[in-house]
Amino acid sequence: NGKHITLGIESSCDETAIGIVADGREVLANVISSQIDIHTAFGGVVPEIASRRHLENINGVLSQALEEAQITINEVDLVGVTYGPGLVGALLVGVAAAKAISFAKDIPLVAVNHMHGHIAANYVEYPELEPPFMGLVVSGGHTNIVFVKDYNQCETLGETRDDAAGEAFDKVARVIGLGYPGGPKVDRAAKEGDPHAIEFKRVYLEPGSYDFSFSGLKTAALNHINSCRQAGKEINVADMAASFQEAVVEVIVNKAISAAREFGQNRIVMAGGVASNSRLREMIREEGEKYGIQVMQPRPLYCTDNGVMIACSAYYKMKKGEFAGPDLDAIPGLEF
Ligand code: KG4
Ligand code: ZN
Repeated sequence: NGKHITLGIESSCDETAIGIVADGREVLANVISSQIDIHTAFGGVVPEIASRRHLENINGVLSQALEEAQITINEVDLVGVTYGPGLVGALLVGVAAAKAISFAKDIPLVAVNHMHGHIAANYVEYPELEPPFMGLVVSGGHTNIVFVKDYNQCETLGETRDDAAGEAFDKVARVIGLGYPGGPKVDRAAKEGDPHAIEFKRVYLEPGSYDFSFSGLKTAALNHINSCRQAGKEINVADMAASFQEAVVEVIVNKAISAAREFGQNRIVMAGGVASNSRLREMIREEGEKYGIQVMQPRPLYCTDNGVMIACSAYYKMKKGEFAGPDLDAIPGLEF
């Protein structure tokens, strides 16, 4: 029908996902096969199990995506794939599938940085959005404030020096007995708690720094639990969840707003799994309003890992002429 069709493959962690978009931003299919149930038994993602599962799932996910888009593989014009960062064995499954499709169907291949993919979810959710803008990428492995100058160009202004925001959520969730995956569970528990019950320290690092440090929070949570036990007091999980969440969210919001103001940007674009946190979404909107900063936040479905964001990012890389060849390899430690 004359539209450009991009297929995006994502397998960097525990979701096998394929998205299909028309002309970069129109979603035709979004199929996500989550492995959360399997990994929950182990309290976290087990890399070997993840890659095996991707391998078992990928063909089925592809068939389902094509069916959802009501197209055949012959109608696909471009294939994009996450090549890093992520678990090497998991990434390789997606990369191999993408190369096979590209070779068999003689269509170009684009390698997508998973983090750029997260940002691209916003192009799908906000059809008018174009760079430049301030990006806030908060996921299981990253906490980055990035100045997105163009579709293929972004500069990291700050990042975590230890744990990522999502990692902090997951660790504290384990400590307070909420289990895996921690983020959504803490989010839910916090709704019943008092965010000022426990004063967790807000770590801002040096003045003017956009870096983060969240590793102290797990220890602080453990210390609080121990002191409750020693005093014979009951541990209030909801209060702990709410107080911990408030501390993390407050620092993220203040730094993101400062960065937007310093760089003269009136838009903050959120991305990554932690961007679906309800308190973060609320506080950053409220603070943004005070300074005339518009906050873009994709629906939770597009914050966590998906193939649509990879397809969208691939489309814009293609527009910039950035293609990959048959020698494409997974890069687990790929930088932003
Ligand atoms: O972006 P993502 O799906 O995968 C990575 O690329 O890392 O992010 C997963 C992370 C996990 O740490 C998860 O606990 C966190 O996002 N997360 C949340 C929420 N939903 C997911 N953290 C806080 N609140 C949430 N509602
Ligand atoms: Zn992700």
